Amino acid sequence: MTPNELIAFAFQALGNAHAPYSNYKVGAALLCSDGTVFQGCNVENASYGLTNCAERTALFSAVAAGKKDFAAMAIAANGDPAPFPCGACRQVLSEFCGPDFPVHVATTDGHTTIALGELLPHAFGLRHV
Ligand code: THU
Repeated sequence: MTPNELIAFAFQALGNAHAPYSNYKVGAALLCSDGTVFQGCNVENASYGLTNCAERTALFSAVAAGKKDFAAMAIAANGDPAPFPCGACRQVLSEFCGPDFPVHVATTDGHTTIALGELLPHAFGLRHV
């Protein structure tokens, strides 16, 4: 799947965003190593801190469906600012994805691709079995 195809899935997911407080809608699309795609959107809450970002929505949906191997993520927003993932999402992605994992950050003006290791150097991790 090309970056632009994955970005199209992210823009499609943006249509389901629940963002009445920020009015900043975000969509994400997570490409699994087996070729399947999981979409997510931001889901805001009147208790603001309970908001879930689009990236974590997509990742948690994928993990809940039994996926653990991922190839790329696209994140989309309609305008400024570009939806670079927040610190929490960077850490959550690093639980499953290595430093070379490509993150496509897109707006209607185009996209940039950045590696997870560049977004989150020295990620915290624990050994697991
Ligand atoms: N948001 C995301 O969903 N992903 C990002 O990459 C940046 C921020 C959401 C959280 C909140 O609903 C809104 O954007 C404004 O912060």
